[in-house]
Amino acid sequence: MHGVIVSNFKTYLDEFLGADAWGDVIAGAGLDGKTYLPVALYPDAEMEALLEAAVNATGLRREDLLADFGEWVIGPLVRMYQAMIPADWGTQALLLNMQTIHERVLKLKDPAASAPNIQVRQCGEDTLEIHYLSHRNMAPMILGAVKGLAEHFQETALLLAAEDGEQEGECRFLFQLQSQCFSAQDVG
Ligand code: HEM
Repeated sequence: MHGVIVSNFKTYLDEFLGADAWGDVIAGAGLDGKTYLPVALYPDAEMEALLEAAVNATGLRREDLLADFGEWVIGPLVRMYQAMIPADWGTQALLLNMQTIHERVLKLKDPAASAPNIQVRQCGEDTLEIHYLSHRNMAPMILGAVKGLAEHFQETALLLAAEDGEQEGECRFLFQLQSQCFSAQDVG
């Protein structure tokens, strides 16, 4: 797992649980003394152990923690990789280019790295289907990340449907995107 996600997970927990909580989380994960940098790659098992320990520390369900983190982490990610995001993009354009962005970010670190498999397909003018398949089983992060992204662009993302796929770690989501800006004509 890319360090930008792991290190931001620490910052997220610092913000919501207080700076002391990380000591408990890292000890609970059996990773005492370990530090995480945004410029390195780390074993997936460490991220999963940190997640499990954070679930124990917060009492939240894994899926709720992942969704909340997904929403929170969009701000830091968009700031850090702003150069990859054209100024005229909104939620829809960024989501339709998600795979390319993930691949570019990962290959900057390791040319052999393969990006999470998140396929985004346009189904109607403002409707997108997101198909997620990853051994990391982090699909709930998508619910938060799409919401966070829409908030970033001052839009809204309405979840129309969510269903598990046949394989472990496979999920499909259907979102409707709407602009929060109404013209005088729209509001009557
Ligand atoms: C500028 C925007 C974004 C950047 C720079 C970014 C970057 C990253 C990076 C570097 C990782 C770690 C991947 C790895 O180590 O293999 C990651 C993971 C992930 N990202 Fe993004 N991301 C962005 C937006 C999003 C959005 C909008 C979504 C939701 C559709 C999303 C969903 C995920 C998920 C679910 C993972 C976990 C990986 C897995 O399950 O295998 N990301 N992202």
